[in-house]
Amino acid sequence: MTETKLFLLPGDGIGPEIMAEVEAIIAFLNAKGLTNFVTDRGLVGGCAYDAHGAAISEADMQKALAADAVLFGAVGGPKWDSVPYEVRPEAGLLRLRKDLGLFANLRPAICYPALADASSLKADLVEGLDILIVRELTGGVYFGEPKEIVTLENGQKRAVDTQLYTTSEIERIARVAFDLARTRNSRVASAEKRNVMKSGVLWNQVVTRIGKDEFADVKLEHVLADNCAMQLVRRPKQYDVIVTDNLFGDILSDVAAMLTGSLGMLPSASLGAPDAATGKRKALYEPVHGSAPDIAGTGAANPIAMIASFGMALRYSFGLVDLATKLDQAIAGVLGKGLRTKDIAKAGEATITTKEMGAAILAEFKTLVG
Ligand code: IPM
Ligand code: MG
Repeated sequence: MTETKLFLLPGDGIGPEIMAEVEAIIAFLNAKGLTNFVTDRGLVGGCAYDAHGAAISEADMQKALAADAVLFGAVGGPKWDSVPYEVRPEAGLLRLRKDLGLFANLRPAICYPALADASSLKADLVEGLDILIVRELTGGVYFGEPKEIVTLENGQKRAVDTQLYTTSEIERIARVAFDLARTRNSRVASAEKRNVMKSGVLWNQVVTRIGKDEFADVKLEHVLADNCAMQLVRRPKQYDVIVTDNLFGDILSDVAAMLTGSLGMLPSASLGAPDAATGKRKALYEPVHGSAPDIAGTGAANPIAMIASFGMALRYSFGLVDLATKLDQAIAGVLGKGLRTKDIAKAGEATITTKEMGAAILAEFKTLVG
């Protein structure tokens, strides 16, 4: 079997703890002869700053570029609150996204039946929820220039961020969303703010054209991003695929995450364009949640979003759809048995640790894989 290179970047806070649970699954798959993953690990975020004075070293960037997929934990924490802006922990993640060209961020929000009452919304609103947020990840206000704080002659300061999109940036993310909708319920909702933003006007025009010319079989609706946020907490099941820009996608995906019971549940895949020669996409997989410094080291972290992110790697980078489906089933099975980390437990309910949750999912996965 050919070797597949996985580059692990556990990062800060709970990152290393949740990554350890994925490493146990990788070890099992390799031992079974089902995969031949070769793993290497690097530093990103605050730990990279402590070691190298940068949010990610050049050597680790090279390894990320050479890998078949990158698995990313989480970055940041109060320890690095006052480091210079250019080398803050998040800069490592943003550089990976930009330099690997990971323009398409897939954030599925699935409510497992067993968790419907862990959501802050009424169970019947979220039961069976299955939506996919497709977030543009390398453009918009995250990367637009100028991005600066300048001092004016009168001593005032002036801060500028630039929201910027070109036709082709919108076209390629729209195509990803429409393509994925075809594998689901063939509905796309495109969210922008065309009522106040020029980038929203262009976004709306381009998505409309791509839908009409290339995906006439997919039903397209347009929604203002603020209304979309409201609809997500009002009647979330009305959506199938939501496509939106970098900043709105950041916000809407946090809302969607809470619908599923906990931010600890939401995985994500960040994909680049297919390589012209090999057809392979650069890819990074990461949980949507952060480094949770308040619970780091206590064993309270929920490893499910990290494990499900690895499941997305099996599906999208390695075509191991059957194994990916079984891993999702293992997660659902463990939740169905009532096993809960603290974040998804009801008041008074017994909880298990990160390691126990990881071990329970692996045991369930082993029985499914056989
Ligand atoms: C996310 C995070 C990041 C973002 C931060 C850590 C830079 O919130 O992946 O959603 O804003 O994109
Ligand atoms: Mg976010």
